Amino acid sequence: MTMAKKYWLIAMLCLGVLLTCGTAWAMTDPCAGCHKDMSKVLPKEHPTVAAGGVAQCLACHNKGKEGAAEQNPFSTKLHTVHLSKKIDCVACHNAESGKSFGLKGDVVDWGAVKPEDVKLMQEKMNSWASSGFTDNLHARAGVDCAGCHGKKAPVSDDTVENARCLECHGPVAKLAERSANKEFPKRNPHASHYGSDIACTTCHKGHDASVVMCADCHKLWKMEIPGAAK
Ligand code: HEC
Ligand code: HEC
Ligand code: HEC
Ligand code: HEC
Ligand code: HEC
Ligand code: HEC
Ligand code: HEC
Repeated sequence: MTMAKKYWLIAMLCLGVLLTCGTAWAMTDPCAGCHKDMSKVLPKEHPTVAAGGVAQCLACHNKGKEGAAEQNPFSTKLHTVHLSKKIDCVACHNAESGKSFGLKGDVVDWGAVKPEDVKLMQEKMNSWASSGFTDNLHARAGVDCAGCHGKKAPVSDDTVENARCLECHGPVAKLAERSANKEFPKRNPHASHYGSDIACTTCHKGHDASVVMCADCHKLWKMEIPGAAK
């Protein structure tokens, strides 16, 4: 074989590999079907991203994957934008009944879900995006599902423990300081005769109107709570 022929062969081989991988990426990537060029939809001032679909994004944006108790503007933005365009969850997600809930083209797994769980998540996500309840106060602050629920996709009857809320809002003493009533210092929702073990969700409902439970008995006290109404 001549040198020229050899280089030609190597060049063709490389091209073949590129084409195969490129096609495989386009087939499994959840974004490629709608976004040929992701750089067109990235926020202004965003770092340059190589082509290659959602896997490229997750290299830097891994908070949801790890279930971190942190704000996640990436996940919040993606979910609110596509929700507003009425794009279905399964456009991007794999929901294999009873087995896994993940992202198409990625190995991340947020645990076993059933079809009815996906429906419930969808309901909660609509609430999160627009309700005015606690969930929505968090969407506005860039806190997504994993920010509160952690590494596992939330399903029926799941809740959020105090410890998780306090990772971002704690310690309780700090909360109590902020919520001390100026006129009646003892009427403090975060420091009362219920002690500090009372579940945050007694008053702060994740996906429903929050209520000040103190008013069940102390009917004449005027106390307000964020996320009480639409
Ligand atoms: C079914 C089609 C569809 C799929 C699948 C899809 N998108 Fe989108 N995306 C849209 C539409 C429609 C918009 C809003 C119009 C626009 O800005 O192009 C949008 C907007 C965006 C935006 C702009 C958000 C902003 O700042 O307003 C980003 C970023 C984005 N998509 C990323 C992704 C990523 C990442 C994936 C894959 C995980 C994905 N999209 C999958 C249709 C889709
Ligand atoms: C080299 C690292 C890196 C990569 C790769 C990357 N990003 Fe980002 N992205 C950032 C940083 C840094 C920010 C700003 C801090 C933050 O919001 O986490 C950001 C923020 C965002 C935001 C939030 C904007 C807002 O509302 O505040 C979106 C949406 C986003 N990136 C989309 C993407 C998409 C889609 C991809 C894949 C195509 C991607 N990013 C890949 C680093 C990266
Ligand atoms: C445009 C693509 C897209 C659509 C549509 C989409 N998701 Fe996601 N979803 C993602 C991406 C990308 C991640 C990974 C985010 C991360 O790791 O920060 C994710 C992560 C998640 C997570 C777990 C981690 C987290 O960040 O909270 C849940 C739960 C979730 N999605 C639920 C849903 C539900 C329910 C729907 C439908 C109402 C939906 N998603 C629609 C792209 C999408
Ligand atoms: C501020 C923290 C917070 C955020 C953010 C949040 N949740 Fe929740 N979620 C809760 C709490 C607290 C509960 C327990 C029930 C309640 O108080 O409403 C809950 C319960 C649930 C349940 C079980 C509901 C039932 O009827 O059994 C599902 C499913 C759920 N959340 C899905 C989601 C999804 C999907 C997202 C993201 C779109 C999300 N959550 C974001 C706090 C949160
Ligand atoms: C990942 C961090 C994080 C977690 C976990 C979290 N929050 Fe938040 N929360 C925030 C951020 C950020 C804001 C918006 C900025 C602020 O007001 O502190 C917020 C806002 C709020 C507000 C509204 C404050 C106002 O004045 O409007 C309430 C109430 C609240 N959170 C309660 C909770 C409860 C209860 C839980 C647990 C079920 C919880 N949060 C879990 C980060 C978090
Ligand atoms: C007995 C009802 C009740 C319980 C239980 C409760 N809260 Fe509150 N929370 C309130 C009320 C009422 C307010 C509004 C206080 C105000 O406006 O001064 C509030 C305000 C807040 C705020 C906003 C404070 C601010 O000004 O930034 C946060 C964050 C918060 N609560 C988190 C929590 C967390 C976390 C827990 C659990 C450890 C918890 N709460 C338990 C009733 C409650
Ligand atoms: C199940 C009924 C009940 C609930 C709910 C309740 N309390 Fe009380 N509380 C009482 C009773 C009974 C007393 C003692 C009699 C009295 O002084 O009114 C009391 C006394 C008090 C006192 C001292 C008396 C005063 O008027 O200064 C304070 C302060 C107080 N409660 C705050 C709270 C706060 C804050 C909450 C919400 C976290 C709460 N209570 C929830 C029944 C309740």
